[in-house]
Amino acid sequence: MNFWHGKQIVIGLGGGIAAYKTLEVIRRLREAGATVTPVPTQAALRFVTGLTLQALSGEPIREDLFSPLAPDGMDHIRLAQAADLVIVAPATADLLARMATGQADDLLSALLLARRGPVLVAPAMNPAMWEHPATQRNVATLRQDGIGFVGPESGAMACGDQGSGRMAEPATLLEAARRALTPKILAGRRVVITAGPTREELDPVRFLSNHSSGKMGWAVALAALRAGARVDLVHGPVALPVPWGAVAHAVGSACEMLDATLDVWLSAPGNPRCDAAILTAAVADYRPEKRLNDKIKKEHAFSELRLELTQNPDILAMLSAWTGMRSRDGHQRVIVGFAAETGNALTRGKAKRIRKGCDLLAINDVSAPGCGFGTDTNAVTLIGRDGREEAWPLLPKEQVAEKLIQAVGDLMRNIHTTP
Ligand code: PMT
Repeated sequence: MNFWHGKQIVIGLGGGIAAYKTLEVIRRLREAGATVTPVPTQAALRFVTGLTLQALSGEPIREDLFSPLAPDGMDHIRLAQAADLVIVAPATADLLARMATGQADDLLSALLLARRGPVLVAPAMNPAMWEHPATQRNVATLRQDGIGFVGPESGAMACGDQGSGRMAEPATLLEAARRALTPKILAGRRVVITAGPTREELDPVRFLSNHSSGKMGWAVALAALRAGARVDLVHGPVALPVPWGAVAHAVGSACEMLDATLDVWLSAPGNPRCDAAILTAAVADYRPEKRLNDKIKKEHAFSELRLELTQNPDILAMLSAWTGMRSRDGHQRVIVGFAAETGNALTRGKAKRIRKGCDLLAINDVSAPGCGFGTDTNAVTLIGRDGREEAWPLLPKEQVAEKLIQAVGDLMRNIHTTP
């Protein structure tokens, strides 16, 4: 089911040059299936035309508190109540000030005052205006009032200045909007996720690795972020941009992945404790006995080259073995593994879950079409310590990840409510 389908979004636009980026947000939301109602201020209409907003949204714009379209004069209440989400982009310094002081002298400010549900604000202004104590006071007030913020970002401004004040890019704004609408089942939780392949170097030019693209782990990280978790993403070499809001830890080898994962898992004093580990990474089981400092040369006298390999530590098994410590500090954690199998997946997966000792194991047959390495889809059977066995159909990895995060959230709730 498409997340945006049927969602009612009101987009308020303030008078700033960044309004041109909001056009892209409107276009993409509509394309995704949302109904978008633009509510520009009079100043916004100096930057983008009503016709453009109307053409992109497919809806009449609302700009007038006393519009003849709403003869009862209740447009501000209706829009405030009907919207799943109100986005204000660009939010100028003036608009933030008016919101913070509860003014309601035009349609947008009146509907914002009448709004009870989520509001997401994307500030855009000159860096001096953003940094001004008056603006910062208004931002603090609005945050206290429960208003969500995305950006501003740093960089070159339309006025030629450099600094913080650029409106968030459309992709970031859309992701923030999605997060604003996703139930926060992992709010206040910290989750470590491993993703991608590891590389085991033979010499300065060669390594042993596998086909993992990181897509499955990225989808899990995104789903956890949307559910409100703090996410530490420990990843091998992949060609994907770090999901917005995740703390990334880039590693190469399995041993480096173990160190980085344990660092997060055992969190140094003063840092939030980790509540769950979801290990999607394809970790090399073996590494070369020795990593040579010089490139291995082709020796014509020998027709073969034999490599000595040694076993890597098993991160999943090690985390699971900390169970004793989990209960000793009174903090129970959820540990999830993935099993990449080829044939006999369920039988092998069940044995693997017991061997590795994790709470949940997502088994995927990486030889099945559309599954496993590099694909955008996956078919997973989720098994658990509690005896569950759920075969999910072939789904986009994003949806597999959402279902998995739901399962983790449910398990956590049960752990924390069971004496
Ligand atoms: O990255 P993609 O291209 O999207 O592909 C996704 C995927 C196929 C990599 C993913 O869906 C998947 O199956 N990940 C697990 C891959 C794997 O290493 O499976 P395994 O059966 O060998 O290991 C079982 C579990 O132990 C995994 O959670 C693995 O991270 C963990 N493990 C394995 C070896 C090791 N030394 N340490 C570990 O922690």
